[in-house]
Amino acid sequence: MERGTDRAVLVTGGAGYIGAHTAKALKEKGFLPVVFDNLSSGFREAVRWGPFVHGDVRDRAALREAMSAYQADAVIHFAGLIEVGRSVQRPDLFWDVNVGGTAAVLAAMQDAGVTRLVFSSSAAVYGQGSRGALETIPETAEKAPASPYGDTKLAGERLIEAHCRAFDLNAVALRYFNAAGADPSGRIGEAHEPETHLIPLAIAAALGARPPLTIFGDDFDTPDGTCLRDYIHVNDLAAAHVAAVELALPAGAFEAANVGTGRGCSVREVVDAVGRAAGRRPPHAVGPRRAGDPPSLVADPTRAQGLLGWRARFSSLDQIVADALRWERLPAYGCGARAPVSSPVSEAAE
Ligand code: UFG
Repeated sequence: MERGTDRAVLVTGGAGYIGAHTAKALKEKGFLPVVFDNLSSGFREAVRWGPFVHGDVRDRAALREAMSAYQADAVIHFAGLIEVGRSVQRPDLFWDVNVGGTAAVLAAMQDAGVTRLVFSSSAAVYGQGSRGALETIPETAEKAPASPYGDTKLAGERLIEAHCRAFDLNAVALRYFNAAGADPSGRIGEAHEPETHLIPLAIAAALGARPPLTIFGDDFDTPDGTCLRDYIHVNDLAAAHVAAVELALPAGAFEAANVGTGRGCSVREVVDAVGRAAGRRPPHAVGPRRAGDPPSLVADPTRAQGLLGWRARFSSLDQIVADALRWERLPAYGCGARAPVSSPVSEAAE
């Protein structure tokens, strides 16, 4: 298994939504993304920019073997379960895969002598506390996850921080706000099953591919009564991961940074943006609140800007929706995928 001249980065969960976009961004920056994924929710078709290793993230020996075979310089650890609602029903699974998986990644890194880790964390580590709807969240805000999913992300961060101190690793945890959009090439995009996220559901409703959208509550203490979220284009997220891999950090360092825009958009604003882009307003009705939804989650992204020299470039709501719409109209894989008639993109671009 020759890795060639590119610096190899092991990407666990690299067949998933954010992982695949990050693998593409790594390749474009001269890295070799080695995707390690068990395809339980990812797609083989999304692995296009480097080798694929089929494996479970709890399998320390398989991780070590992949890191050694490709002489990985760094690991980006995405693999894990993400559905907040399911985490309430199956906390056992979430702790096993998310925290057990992170422990296995850390152990395998020690075995293989890899010292740099970038970890997929989440705004779900923060609680709502007494924050007002228009206040942004700095990294120092109280950590009080509202779900077992958020608990496992916080536990993962703490495990990583302790390993950094004890074993001279160094790591960056990126706390994502609301990942959205798709690569403009149309070759990779969001494909969750079940899909629970607002933007794909609103687009599918506008296209008539799914039932009308339910707005989960319009009686929040926010400007238009619907929840505010900080939507970040998946390619901006991908760029933040590449910057974190490239960061010079001393042994033992652990950093955490929010990845968001600093701007909150309401559910109604998303519905309007989808209507503008699709030429048809998504049919919708207001329903009750969804359990556990905080009124507002908006990043203070100052730390990521300073630490990583990064800022969001593609994350206007209109750009996110335009790119997501292109993907939802013709997804290359996933449940809604149609058989490819002809590829509009040259294979030479790979
Ligand atoms: N929403 C609706 N109708 C829907 C779906 C969503 O009104 O059919 C609303 C939600 O109530 C929320 C907003 O749209 O106000 C965004 O919801 P998403 O499900 O798209 O995203 P979340 O903010 O719930 O989830 C995000 C990340 C999770 C993370 C969570 C932390 O996707 O990974 O934030 O709270 F865990």
